[in-house]
Amino acid sequence: MCGIIGITSSKPVSSAIINSLRKLEYRGYDSAGLATLSEGIINEVKSEGRVENLEKNIAIKNMQGSVGIGHVRWATHGIPNTINAHPHSSNNVSIVHNGIIENSTILKKFLISKGHKFKSQTDTEVIVHLITEYLKENDLKNSIIKMLNQLHGSFALGIIFKDQPDLIVGARRGSPLAVGYGPNENYLGSDSYALKSMTNKISYLNDGEFCILKKNLVEFFNEKGAKVNKKVLELSSSEQDYDKGDFKHFMAKEIEEQPTTLKNCIKEYIDNINNDINIYNFPWDLKKISSITLIGCGTAYHSCLMAKYWFEELTSLDVTIDIASEFRYRKNRFKKDNLYVFVSQSGETADTYAALDLCNKNNMKTCSVVNVIESSIARDANFVLPIHCGPEIGVASTKAFLGQMLVLYIFSLKLSVLNKDLDKKTYVNKIKDLKNLPKLVEETLLTESKIQTISSTFTDAKGSMFLGRGFSYPIALEGALKLKELAYVHAEGYPAGEMKHGPLALIEDGMPVVVLAPRDNYYQKTISNMQEVIARGAKVLLITNKSKDEVMSENIWQTIEVESANDDLLPFLLTVPLQKLAYYSALKKGYDIDKPRNLAKSVTVE
Ligand code: M6R
Repeated sequence: MCGIIGITSSKPVSSAIINSLRKLEYRGYDSAGLATLSEGIINEVKSEGRVENLEKNIAIKNMQGSVGIGHVRWATHGIPNTINAHPHSSNNVSIVHNGIIENSTILKKFLISKGHKFKSQTDTEVIVHLITEYLKENDLKNSIIKMLNQLHGSFALGIIFKDQPDLIVGARRGSPLAVGYGPNENYLGSDSYALKSMTNKISYLNDGEFCILKKNLVEFFNEKGAKVNKKVLELSSSEQDYDKGDFKHFMAKEIEEQPTTLKNCIKEYIDNINNDINIYNFPWDLKKISSITLIGCGTAYHSCLMAKYWFEELTSLDVTIDIASEFRYRKNRFKKDNLYVFVSQSGETADTYAALDLCNKNNMKTCSVVNVIESSIARDANFVLPIHCGPEIGVASTKAFLGQMLVLYIFSLKLSVLNKDLDKKTYVNKIKDLKNLPKLVEETLLTESKIQTISSTFTDAKGSMFLGRGFSYPIALEGALKLKELAYVHAEGYPAGEMKHGPLALIEDGMPVVVLAPRDNYYQKTISNMQEVIARGAKVLLITNKSKDEVMSENIWQTIEVESANDDLLPFLLTVPLQKLAYYSALKKGYDIDKPRNLAKSVTVE
């Protein structure tokens, strides 16, 4: 979390930094700050809350300077106030930081013993004093190397120096950092999105590297200080992708875009003429993969859970799934013929990256399913399966979830036919059905007005439950997560058949319960579970698919019918009303839908 930006130029930089900070706000939005260097003086402005507050303060201060750094914060050490906001500065240097310095307490003691005085409660401030200390007896480059050697934990840094008129140092370990190249100016940023309006020429720092930027020079070094050559990459997607157009929120736009993003993704993987799946340049013989482990966090983890059901249904492969923050610390027994699949929208999630890194270090076969193809997880996995859904800006993941599920479904189909678990005819039929999915999602999006009305009940609820069995269970978890993170309503996703083993005790008169019961193999069982909660006073919103058969149950509060499809595809359709339910519940409360409290889009801390 946290976003950093740095610009060295021949013209004033503060408004360009503000523009980039606005784009980085999805990474953290509890405070923001900026420092520029002008005529040998470091000027600093910081504000609590959003970038718009910072902008007002900057206008008052009339910030000058053609080199500067900026930051948006998601607090880790110290409450989100102005003192703890970045940049942190001494008389000589000013620093912005994304990550966590794990040995900050020990370093702080050492620095205090050397006479340094601390102003904030942050871990970042030790970096300021450490570099200031080393600069007393070393040149700039050696001070950087010494300082980096002392830090434990994760960081991406941007540093400016009082006596270096056009210079910025960037450094990374764990947290991502990109460098952008412009005409007579160069940039540093947490991601390419922040730099996009200024350049499409980008390089990425690898772990342990640092860089020195001047307005006409960019140099990269490894941790020992040896020069490193970098490829300059050209970014492709257009600026409009980052615009919410006529939509009130990015989330609303991203939900509506789903038919198109699914269509784009299908186009990338499906051979329309032969009704086959193309996965080119896979580095291993797909037939020799005997088991799969799928790893992710949050919504991405839910897509892993969904994929487990598909893999088990369609293939004879052994499939395990794991939450990345658990996997990375477990005693792992790595298996040679196992494929480790890392699922992440951002491709920067610290826990998922650490799990990938662990597998890479143990020479495992690694593959990633990502949206951001320039991300660390995409770059460091042996093979990448992109989800092709374009930038997702809303903190709540929507189109990326459908995209992850789609790619994982396609992958399971391909393995099923290669391993002869599925006959060719069924395989071709499933592909034909899949091609119709974008249209079905488009039609399901029309359940709009009914959900708007229903959402008031959830807005006012003390708590709620989301129930499903089989293929619908991961979707129940996802629906509950969306309601929690957007409307701040307690919501629990549960396997419908488990209710009687405890959670049924929670049901009381009027409690809203969403039951996902499409007409699949689990339908009758789920309907029985639904009746059990209705009998205890629950207000049930049943989400099923269209059918000529009536639902045989009384006292259902509300029913929403999604389009019909083969069982494999129903999870996509069931997701849509749940996304809208969370959206409208949050809208009614007037919450900040694209930036829910306490969260950030890219979770780059443990
Ligand atoms: O970028 P990632 O897919 O790795 O992010 C994982 C989770 O942080 C993310 O899905 C999170 O749970 C979303 N806010 C859910 O909407």
